[in-house]
Amino acid sequence: MAHDNGAIPLLSVQGIHTFIGQFHILEGVTVDVPKGDIVALLGRNGAGKTTTLKSILGITPPSQGRVLFDGEEIQGRRAFEIADMGIGFVPEHRAIFRDLSVAENLKIAERNKGELAQKEDLIFSLFPDLKRLIKLPGTNLSGGQQQMLAVARALVPDNRLLLIDEPSEGLAPVIIEQMIEAIKQLSAETTVLLVEQNFIVASHLAESYVIIEEGQSVKNGKMSDLTEDKETIHRYLGAA
Ligand SMILES: Nc1ncnc2c1ncn2[C@@H]1O[C@H](COP(=O)(O)OP(=O)(O)OP(=O)(O)O)[C@@H](O)[C@H]1O
Ligand SMILES: [Mg+2]
Repeated sequence: MAHDNGAIPLLSVQGIHTFIGQFHILEGVTVDVPKGDIVALLGRNGAGKTTTLKSILGITPPSQGRVLFDGEEIQGRRAFEIADMGIGFVPEHRAIFRDLSVAENLKIAERNKGELAQKEDLIFSLFPDLKRLIKLPGTNLSGGQQQMLAVARALVPDNRLLLIDEPSEGLAPVIIEQMIEAIKQLSAETTVLLVEQNFIVASHLAESYVIIEEGQSVKNGKMSDLTEDKETIHRYLGAA
């Protein structure tokens, strides 16, 4: 969907600071995610990307700054309340229940009874493998299939925003291509804030980007400008 200039962003993170224990991890992160867009959150290892997602979700609540979801302040609310507003999270490292079957993993992702039945067609059209594997336990899935299941789980409830952390991490190139295609398609239904270390993946998916370095957002703009800007890519992301 095109960037809707003038409309309020679906998500607006404004100058947040977050502590984990005594450590001051985020020291001013600002991110806007327009409705219908995919925004990529970029930065090196340890920059604060995952902490930004967890701060939005109230898992590591910010001590300063504001988080607005659809214009409403949500910082300081409890994590389950924030999720219930329609924000889905796909954590790093293929977070699924390995002892449960694909069907069970999807079923327990429901926020309200009966949601899965309504979403099955969408989920299986994005990830046809999951239909074939529906009865198998998570342990029997490949890394790529586990990651697909992790994304599919976030599609079961009616989420207006998805926060996806490193979906391509550790996956084979052919699986990464499937993942890119699936995220492209699901972005027709929802808005996405995507953490990606793989710049090629991020640049294929996102309309705009924010770079985080040492807990601060240091640069943002249109992805089409960043792909031309080798110096910035090298300086902040270490990629060629
Ligand atoms: N529970 C914790 N206790 C102490 N420090 C933490 C904790 N979690 C994260 N950190 C530190 O906070 C900083 C940001 O971590 P974060 O996980 O947000 O980075 P990231 O950008 O997601 O990195 P990666 O690309 O490796 O996933 C890092 O320096 C990390 O060591
Ligand atoms: Mg991370």
